Amino acid sequence: MKKILVCDVLNPEAMDALQSIPELDVTIKTGMDESELIKTLPGFHAAVVRSATKIRKNAIQSADTLEIIVRAGIGLDNIDVSDAEAKGIKVSNTPSATTISVAEHTFGLMLGLVRNHGPANCSMKAHKWEKKALGGTELFGKTLGIIGSGRIGLAVAERAIAFGMKVIAFDIVPINTDLDIKQVSLDELLAEADIFSLHLPKTDKTAHMISTNEFNKMKDGALLVNAARGGVVDEDALLKSLESGKLRAAAIDVYEKEPAENYNLIDHPAVTATPHIGAAAKEGQKRAGMEVVRILKEYFQA
Ligand code: MLT
Repeated sequence: MKKILVCDVLNPEAMDALQSIPELDVTIKTGMDESELIKTLPGFHAAVVRSATKIRKNAIQSADTLEIIVRAGIGLDNIDVSDAEAKGIKVSNTPSATTISVAEHTFGLMLGLVRNHGPANCSMKAHKWEKKALGGTELFGKTLGIIGSGRIGLAVAERAIAFGMKVIAFDIVPINTDLDIKQVSLDELLAEADIFSLHLPKTDKTAHMISTNEFNKMKDGALLVNAARGGVVDEDALLKSLESGKLRAAAIDVYEKEPAENYNLIDHPAVTATPHIGAAAKEGQKRAGMEVVRILKEYFQA
């Protein structure tokens, strides 16, 4: 019998499906810090995580029986992947399960930015009627600059094209799509886009990829949406760009530190903030959970 440790619970249907596999002995233990994880992991053959549990080098070293770590979601930044792989532990994720959830949330944030949904909501709750100030603009005819054109970037592009936007994109690899997207250099993208949306992981190469220099190259009054990863955008530089009016507004779902701490940024009136909920839609979480079950069934041939 293979022993599975669920460190962050999956969607209920996926948990039921996992627990009903006779060959797998499933233990649920959530909210573990590193020292508890180090004590708990020995004896387990698989660990299942979402984003809350961090599986770092020390925990990996202690995990003598562990064969596979499965991340329900996309980002692997909560797992020391190279340490796991060096120990012969396979690391899997569910890269396409939450594409639509994140793309729709991104698009919602973008619509909210141009039509001032965040400020209008705050204004109404302060019992004001600021009709003149809050009209905003359309998305139609504007240029969307997508940074990172993988599954989610392309899903956002598809929605933007349906809204009559022109889409340009930057990626370090050739963009493979039938969609009407022009691939450009980062400098061209920064100069041409009215609205920016990021869709790339945080790595050593992408950390603070959008910082003072990049903000300075944008059009005055540009808008930015980040529902990808905190730290790809330099939060201090972002705040300065908003304070100077260079950037008109930003919508942020992801933060350099989570749970978010940078309230100087979040409290800025031109910021719309959500608590990393891009992938959290019910349907996306169900797909991710069922994908985890499939991965474990296949791996253990259960
Ligand atoms: C992901 O990487 O799957 C999403 O950003 C969701 C998350 O990490 O919570």
